[in-house]
Amino acid sequence: MKRVAVYTSGGDAPGMNACIRAVVRGAIYHGVEIYGIRYGYAGMIKGDMKQLSSHSVSNIIQKGGTILKSARSEEFMTKEGRKKAYESLKEHGIEGLICIGGDGSFTGAKIFYEEFGIPIVGAPGTIDNDIYGTDFTIGFDTAVNTAISAIDKIRDTADSHDRIFFVEVMGRDSGYIAIRSGICGGAEIVLVPETNTTMEEVIETLKKGKNRSKTSSLVVVAEGDEIGGAIEIAEMARKHLQDADIRVATLGHIQRGGAPSAKDRILASRMGLSAIEGLLNGRKNVMAGVMKDELVYTPFEHAITIEKTLSPDLLRMVDIFNS
Ligand code: F6P
Repeated sequence: MKRVAVYTSGGDAPGMNACIRAVVRGAIYHGVEIYGIRYGYAGMIKGDMKQLSSHSVSNIIQKGGTILKSARSEEFMTKEGRKKAYESLKEHGIEGLICIGGDGSFTGAKIFYEEFGIPIVGAPGTIDNDIYGTDFTIGFDTAVNTAISAIDKIRDTADSHDRIFFVEVMGRDSGYIAIRSGICGGAEIVLVPETNTTMEEVIETLKKGKNRSKTSSLVVVAEGDEIGGAIEIAEMARKHLQDADIRVATLGHIQRGGAPSAKDRILASRMGLSAIEGLLNGRKNVMAGVMKDELVYTPFEHAITIEKTLSPDLLRMVDIFNS
């Protein structure tokens, strides 16, 4: 391969820039030209791409967001859209791709490879950590740390006012951020989409806490929990706990921003280099990951379809600490 391109796609995640830097520097080290595609698949369709130099990725390892910008493209979901993307890659002489993104981005990459045969290697970048084939995804550690620092602050005010706080963290389909930030923040309850906790159980645990003379409580809710979001759950709780002073805090997109943690910078750099070296060594339709501290490649098919389970010992811990 003489020329390859890198793009970021889907929700951004802290550490994506460190990954782009590793891909670019790795390609240049191996004597390959590297292009950056802006706005993910949308930019691929429009031909929004240019050559990157080693200097273009200077001073970005510590920055949140993505210098290549990100987007979710409706057009790429159509065959015509993907054909346009293929033609624009051909026009620019691009022979292989590195996709930094989550499951939606890898689903697109897999279809694109199957239709047009362009080799693609992925690097998992999403704060949700919901991708099989890697113990952690780029951005997850930073997002958990951001959530913890917010939860610690909420605890202070909850304690001063004897309040129950429902704190909503991100995780449309997964409870990874919720379970880890909940444990670190000493939450009384953690609600995640992976388990079926009932509203009765929530009320029961909060009442038990009160009987044990707890004056304040914290419930961490993953946004995709089956009972509902934090606002809805707090509303239900108010009906059952009429003398309780209940508040809600939604952490939202602050979890997606900020400087990546040391762990995320290392992980992103390892995965970026492993992705580009994999591509140059003939790998395709796979994602670079790190499992048990070993660099591994997992077919996109498995990365997007195999469910990564939440550690049961983490879930159990919350129950035990609050029984
Ligand atoms: O990056 C993943 C994620 O944070 C989900 O947890 C969340 O539901 C979603 O992105 C929201 O993304 P957006 O606001 O960009 O659509």
